[in-house]
Amino acid sequence: MNSPEPRAANPVRAFFALPNDSRTKTLGITLLVCLCCSVLVAWAAVALKPAQQRNQALEFQRNIVEVAGLLQDGSSVEAALSRIEAQLIELETGAVSTAFDQTQYNIEAAAKDPKRTTPLAPADDPALIRLRPRFMPVYFVRSADGQSVQAVILPVYGAGLWSRMYGFLALEKDWDTVRGLKFYQQGETPGLGGEIDNPKWRALWQGKQVHDADGQPAIRLVKGHVEASAPGAAHQIDGLSGATLTGRGVEHLINYWLGPLGYGPLLQRLRQQQAQG
Ligand SMILES: Cc1cc2nc3c(=O)[nH]c(=O)nc-3n(C[C@H](O)[C@H](O)[C@H](O)COP(=O)(O)O)c2cc1C
Repeated sequence: MNSPEPRAANPVRAFFALPNDSRTKTLGITLLVCLCCSVLVAWAAVALKPAQQRNQALEFQRNIVEVAGLLQDGSSVEAALSRIEAQLIELETGAVSTAFDQTQYNIEAAAKDPKRTTPLAPADDPALIRLRPRFMPVYFVRSADGQSVQAVILPVYGAGLWSRMYGFLALEKDWDTVRGLKFYQQGETPGLGGEIDNPKWRALWQGKQVHDADGQPAIRLVKGHVEASAPGAAHQIDGLSGATLTGRGVEHLINYWLGPLGYGPLLQRLRQQQAQG
């Protein structure tokens, strides 16, 4: 009588039957744990992406209504947003454009897109953005009854010491007086350059005039405190101590965006419209 064929050893069982101090088992378990973790991380990245994008969009909108000063009376973000009207502007002419959907316009993506930018010569690029966007979304703040425009919010960006800083500059309807400034994305050192987010420093901008008597961008960050009676004080803001370079970046980017390659043509058009009543 033939003896039965020996059953092939199950490799999984054989692996787990190895002694715990076996090198093969240690390596195998390590690989297994790594595999499980990477599957979990990949799943989380994919599954949470829509929620992340929703939160980013909400945060973007919250910053817009905050810089517009619409949250001060305790209004909700949703109520404040009903007073904001977005328009896509062709920077070269300052005219409204329908080339893209302004509600979906991603400033950071557009800033790197060769099809939606033109290269800047170093002499024209104090904000160190390298590529000039052809379009930018801007946000008009309407009065509570919706009858008139009260302010405009201009997205701005440029180089700090360590990072590209993205923010909003809100101007009153004289298109010259600052209503607010807020950086919504920056990677400067907390406590140094990161102080551009400090509400006390941001409050220093309110009421400043961004253009000089000739209509040229004129914002200056000065060392120490601005003396209210000093000549040019209307255009000056206290520099950030220990963060001169970040402050210089802010000064350069604000003046760039208010200039002829930024929102200059738009502001000119708004002034003309206002003059015509
Ligand atoms: C760790 C570290 C982080 C720094 N971060 C910043 C910064 O975010 N922005 C900035 O302008 N300077 C920063 N600085 C300081 C600059 O290197 C530079 O010394 C400073 O801007 C000098 O100007 P001030 O002291 O006159 O402002 C940092 C320095 C160190 C050592």
